[in-house]
Amino acid sequence: MIQLIRGFRDILPGEVELWQKIEREARELLERFGFREIRIPILEKTELFRRSIGEETDIVEKEMYTFADRGGEAVTMRPEATASIVRAYIQHKLYAPDPAKRLYTIGPMFRRERPQKGRYRQFTQIDAEILGVASPLADAELVFLLTSLLRRLAVEDVSAHVNSLGCAACRPSFRLALQEMLAAVSDRLCEDCSRRRVRNPLRVLDCKVPECREALAGAPSILEHLCGDCRRDFDLLRDALESLGVPYVVDPRLVRGLDYYTRATFEIQTGALGAQSAVAGGGRYDRLIAELGGPDLPATGFAIGFDRLAELAALNAPDLRPKPDLFLAALGEPARRAAFAWYCGLGERGVRVAMEFGEKSLKSQLKAADREGAAWVLMVGEDELARGSASLRDMRTKRQREIPLEGLVEKVAAMLCE
Ligand code: HAM
Repeated sequence: MIQLIRGFRDILPGEVELWQKIEREARELLERFGFREIRIPILEKTELFRRSIGEETDIVEKEMYTFADRGGEAVTMRPEATASIVRAYIQHKLYAPDPAKRLYTIGPMFRRERPQKGRYRQFTQIDAEILGVASPLADAELVFLLTSLLRRLAVEDVSAHVNSLGCAACRPSFRLALQEMLAAVSDRLCEDCSRRRVRNPLRVLDCKVPECREALAGAPSILEHLCGDCRRDFDLLRDALESLGVPYVVDPRLVRGLDYYTRATFEIQTGALGAQSAVAGGGRYDRLIAELGGPDLPATGFAIGFDRLAELAALNAPDLRPKPDLFLAALGEPARRAAFAWYCGLGERGVRVAMEFGEKSLKSQLKAADREGAAWVLMVGEDELARGSASLRDMRTKRQREIPLEGLVEKVAAMLCE
């Protein structure tokens, strides 16, 4: 038997209803705040991700699904959405005449990570970006939207972590201080960190290897190196979150796994998913639009890990399994033919219908209706056809009434859809 590929997954009926609900809630919330949907391709030129996410990140170094297409061009299955959204923003000049654009997309991303609970090789993100807006209020809006969505989905045990990564003016002095500190503990760092400590020292702060975390206990804090502008923006973000009543933790180690970030970064973390603590992450990337060949415009955004969010939301979700309004139970071929026409007609008129197509006893059909949670059962057999009416049973009260076959679809639809 052919099984699915490791790290890939099926979302089965039973689970998919929650996914649909999350997607509806997310779309509704984002669109209420002026976000418009953008659909971007799954395949992009590899160059796009190399230049945006950064050469020395786990994603680009070891996780991308990259291959030469038949024309020999290096292409990559998108590991995230921000780079593509920025490419589209530049390519279609979405910045003109007004650069401020709120865009969102929902879809699969691909990273060849080591699969484990909450970590897949194909996973889904809800990604939202505010492009062309410099104000830290945009960052506050994003953190607010994340916490608001989690609240709507009754997700508990989460906390918002925020940090600032500084800008071109202040990050170099922090980098230098960190590089010096890392040089002193270089013999205690893992292989990746030893390699990165000179060229990309910030990434070392994010390493999950326990020995590295220990070696970094005395690492300098980026927040002590922020320039006046970055400090002011970070304070504004914190003020905005406080006045909105959004609880947060300042986390100077929050450097994120992608290189395009500047200033505010944030993550929603949880203790409920084992090692995979980040449900959502994002931040400001004020240089990326220019670096990818567009105008010099700021931007900020987030991505929610849909798979992880669904896992958390499932802990408090009610039973979302769709139940039929009406189960049609027919006995004998002529009755089944009549019932099939009603089944189609009622379904078309908005009734949730179910029907047994095989020859089964009335008892077993009633059992099936009960199992599926049908509210009503319409029963028809030879006798009913002969007397020109079918029996409609209320499965809750078990009371039955006769419905004339003449105009049955309209009558039942009117009754059940009222
Ligand atoms: P990211 O932190 O790489 O950021 O991913 C965002 C979220 O996607 C994570 O917090 C996690 O919930 C989920 N995620 C990532 N990898 C996996 C995986 N292998 N399996 C399951 N879930 C996963 C970004 O992707 C940025 N583009 C976010 C952003 C948007 N920054 C600015 N705008």
